[in-house]
Order: sequence, then C-alpha cells, then structure tokens
Amino acid sequence: MSGPDDLARAAAEWMVHCLGEGSGPVAVALSGGSTPKRLYELLVTETFIRRVPWSRVHWFWGDERFVPRDDERSNYRMTMRAMLDHAPVPDGHIHPVPTESVSPEESASVYEAELRRFHGSGRLEDPLFQVVLLGLGTNGHTASLFPGTPALDERTAWAVAVTPEGEPTRITLTYPALESCRHAAFLVAGAEKRDVLARVRAGDTTLPAARYRPRGELRWFADAEADHG
Ligand code: 6PG
Repeated sequence: MSGPDDLARAAAEWMVHCLGEGSGPVAVALSGGSTPKRLYELLVTETFIRRVPWSRVHWFWGDERFVPRDDERSNYRMTMRAMLDHAPVPDGHIHPVPTESVSPEESASVYEAELRRFHGSGRLEDPLFQVVLLGLGTNGHTASLFPGTPALDERTAWAVAVTPEGEPTRITLTYPALESCRHAAFLVAGAEKRDVLARVRAGDTTLPAARYRPRGELRWFADAEADHG
C-alpha cells in the first residue's frame, strides 16, 4: 500500500464489504485523529456512497476529546464534516460522546448506557460492533488507551474518562468494548509511525495497541512510509 490515498481506498473497500454482511442494525466505532479523515471523505464519494448501507449503520466513537462539539479538536466535528454531514444518515443513528454540560465521568457512564441500549444483551461475547476503526499514536496509544493509564486494566466498564499525562481529558471505550466486534482495523500512516508499528507488530505489550485482542478479524492498513517492515 503506497500512500495515504491507497490506504484510504483499501480501507473503504474493506469497510463496505464488512458493513454489507448480514441484515439489521449494525454499529461502527469510529476512530479520531487525522489518519481516518481520508477514508471518511472517500465513503461519501460517488464510488462508495451507494455501497454503504446507511439505513442500517449506527455511528459511535471509540474515543473523544472532552471538548465542545464545535471545537477543532473534536473527533465528532471532524467526522461530521468529512462524512456524516454528506450522507443519508437516518435520525438517531449518530451517537456522539456527550462533552457538554456533563462531567467527564458522567459522560463515560452516559455513553456506556447508550452503547448497552443499542447492544441489548449486555454480553460482550455478542459483537457490539460490526466494525471498529483504530489509530496508532507514536507512543503506542490507540483510541484513548494511553501507556501507563488505569484505563488499560479496566475490564468491566465499557467507557471511561482519562486524562493522560500532558493531554486534555478524553473519553475512551475500553478494551472489552472495543474488542467486542466482528471486524477491526488499524489505520496507520507516516514515517513517524514506523518504529511504533514495528514494535506493535512484534508484540511489545508495553504498548496499548499491542494489547488489543479483538474477538473478530483484525486488519492493518498502513502506508509505505509507516510500514517499512
Ligand atoms: C484521537 C484518536 C487517537 C488517534 C491516534 C493517531 O482521538 O486522537 O482516536 O487514538 O487515532 O492519536 O492519530 P493520527 O491519526 O492523527 O496520527
């Protein structure tokens, strides 16, 4: 996979294939950061917009920065502008992390309740998500599961508030929730990710991304810059 565009195209093909499986409502856990933006933009182009089953898909976020929705750091804002504002999404199918007039802790429990409502059984052996999208930080974090944070050991809650060192507060889904999926993919681009990607692939479990064990399929979409293995 050479450049970011190829990465986005390959991920888009994979995603419409995964979303085309089965029938009934399905959920996607969206990734934030900069790498998935091209994928989101691609899914609403002529080539892909008719291949996404918009009427069946519910859109959740794997993590969110605890900032207002109109803040430029907001993953919700990025995703709405890149994709969801341009797609035939039915009312009630977009599930942003609450970041206004609630505390971070309240936000996490409200979001967990919303995920449980959508899921039904509450047993994570039953896939919560059809597709989980994840990124990779240069320090090995994924979603907002950062090295050295208590969230890494959370096995009961589906969502928690975290304030990693030197970072603003975020809300993140936990491993049990993010691992409850049929299909998961890491999207990784750029030379600055080369070392950490190699370490994750080598199974360095000091890195949160290397500890991610989805119940379903795991794919890696990495561009040539990142994937020098
Ligand atoms: C976030 C993300 C985070 C991101 C990585 C990679 O909210 O920031 O969910 O986990 O995926 O930091 O970010 P880039 O794609 O911008 O390198």
